[in-house]
Amino acid sequence: MTTELVTVDLLHFHAIGVPLERADGTIKVTGRAPYAFEHPVTEPVYLHPVQATVARGRVTGADTAAARALPGVIAVLTHENAPRMVSGDDPELWVLQSTEIAFRGQFVGAVLAETLEVARHAADLVRMEYENLPHDAELDPRRDDLYAPDVLNAGYPTDTAEGDVDAAPAAVTIDRTYRTPMEHNNPMEPHAVIALWAEPGELLLYDSSQGVHRVRGALATAFGLDPGRVRVVSPYVGGGFGSKGSAHAHHALAVLAAQAVPGRPVKFALTRQQMFSQVGYRTPTVQHVRLSATADGRLTAISHEVVEQTARLKEFAEQTAVCSRMMYTAPNRRTSHRLARLDVPVPAWMRAPGEAPGMFAAEVAMDELAVACGLDPIELRARNEPGTDPVTGRPWSGGRHLVECLREGARRFGWDPRDPTPGVRRDGEWLVGTGVAASTYPRHLLPGNRATVRYTPDGRYSVLIGAVDIGTGTWTTLAQIAADALEVPVGAVALEIGDSDLPQASVAGGSSGMSSWGSAVVAAARAFRARYGEGPPVGAEASAEAPAEPGGDFAADSFGAQFAEVRVNADTGEVRVPRMLGVFSAGKIINPRTARSQFIGGMIMGLSAALHEESVLDPRFGHVVNHDFADYHIAACADVVDIDAAWLEEVDPHANPMGSRGIGEIGIVGAPAAIANAVHHATGIRVRDLPITPDRLL
Ligand code: MOS
Repeated sequence: MTTELVTVDLLHFHAIGVPLERADGTIKVTGRAPYAFEHPVTEPVYLHPVQATVARGRVTGADTAAARALPGVIAVLTHENAPRMVSGDDPELWVLQSTEIAFRGQFVGAVLAETLEVARHAADLVRMEYENLPHDAELDPRRDDLYAPDVLNAGYPTDTAEGDVDAAPAAVTIDRTYRTPMEHNNPMEPHAVIALWAEPGELLLYDSSQGVHRVRGALATAFGLDPGRVRVVSPYVGGGFGSKGSAHAHHALAVLAAQAVPGRPVKFALTRQQMFSQVGYRTPTVQHVRLSATADGRLTAISHEVVEQTARLKEFAEQTAVCSRMMYTAPNRRTSHRLARLDVPVPAWMRAPGEAPGMFAAEVAMDELAVACGLDPIELRARNEPGTDPVTGRPWSGGRHLVECLREGARRFGWDPRDPTPGVRRDGEWLVGTGVAASTYPRHLLPGNRATVRYTPDGRYSVLIGAVDIGTGTWTTLAQIAADALEVPVGAVALEIGDSDLPQASVAGGSSGMSSWGSAVVAAARAFRARYGEGPPVGAEASAEAPAEPGGDFAADSFGAQFAEVRVNADTGEVRVPRMLGVFSAGKIINPRTARSQFIGGMIMGLSAALHEESVLDPRFGHVVNHDFADYHIAACADVVDIDAAWLEEVDPHANPMGSRGIGEIGIVGAPAAIANAVHHATGIRVRDLPITPDRLL
């Protein structure tokens, strides 16, 4: 029996595969695309929050008199007078409902005023009193209270074990600890929302969101509202990287405030500094990797044990070692995740949660093994290629093309001939080296997507789905999919997305957007074509739900190869990356132009993680010290010199109806390892802790 419920059913690609320019490009660059804070509303009220200045404790008093006396202040909310919420199922949203403080920076109040400036000034005048309780904000892998969470992000098991890692034969062993720091998402557009409590029980939000239905559902639950009377509108979004994938405390605070001023829209844009405690971050990780191999580089055991943090307020367990379950073949294998529950803000999704930090450790370890075995790092990986998915035993949907990516990348990058000797290439004061690492990301397909196709009087096809475009290109690429599914030119498609009043759609997360929404759009188009053929009457309409996850016979993962050239200043330790190349196997590429942007965007974020990004949490006070762009460095234009992405021309016959597998996250995976491996090749110094700052190279 076959379970190929999903097969590529777009027989002809016409619009798909064409490098169309962004449909929303012109209105974005001319400032006419409304972002969340910019939606025109009448008589807005501005919100500025009051944040806890202790990391754990209780609010014992609130002196709001001075704030309330300031001209222009409309209201000051604290736990004493805030409207009541209904459900605390999501503790992150339970704001101003109790006196408990779970992390420094938590919202303890809000000022509503006629202007942004007055709100901010007044918030400074609010005096909160606290009972300060001892807090614990230090991730130490030797703690005795580490625990195993029930399940990891995206539903993975916490631990796995096969065979006996400790008894595996080993001519060569790599046994090392790698660390990645706390990192913050920092999309260009800060989180912002306008909340309007229109009538009792009716709520409208203009939001900057990766998932309008997800935010709607969370807020409807928290406030006990009928989801049908909550509307979340998010047509244009300036990035999210996961931090806009869920409702956060600022949403709840804005809705509370909107209830306090019914009929008036409440505008709340987080400052960059507030984002460092409010909207999630990547947990720091401590990763113990042990690789055992024969003298000729065949892995006999892989062990990947991770310690990371979560928040006392709410658990998030990053799936950091999951990559080591499926990357390479080895009969003995062990992975584990242990968490420290700390008095810190709630960690959450940040681009390739799990794979990004996990593949740093795993792929630097592979490079160390290659050096120890005297093997080219590409050859080492080729020798450990599994024929089928080590986790499920299934073949990969569309095949596993990691080695092709590595070999194609080597050819384009000019990898051969490469002298493996570290620290011997010098150009003036610069030490030069090259590095490679593998990349992977799973194909996620999220359930519950619907789309509607409607033939309109202007002779076009409206395609409706509550998807979002977070800067990735959805406005363009989903229209391409619809055009091919309807067998019409892309110009005949009028896409409508970014509104929870549109048919149900899943979150733009886990690189699942095109797969999940596209499946629904194809299903609706097929239903429309089946009903009306090629001559639909005006007003003709069909809706359909995407078919269920195929599962069953195939493993679905994308793979890639990351190459980097680095120059390390022998005197100062400064690292420059003159060249990066990624070659990916990700199924059918819907739009080469927007896809390239996604790939190289991910690679640049990997470069940023490799060299710059590090949130420094002061355990004495429980806050991130470097909470702005002056101190939290991200890659700038000057860091990015010659960067390119390529991909294998392929169609995955089982991944989804388009034959694609998702590309939003794989670009970041492996890029930091490629740079760290190149730094070793340049200098002979093996850096196992990110970021690779100059002090580590002197
Ligand atoms: Mo991505 S971290 O799943 O938005």
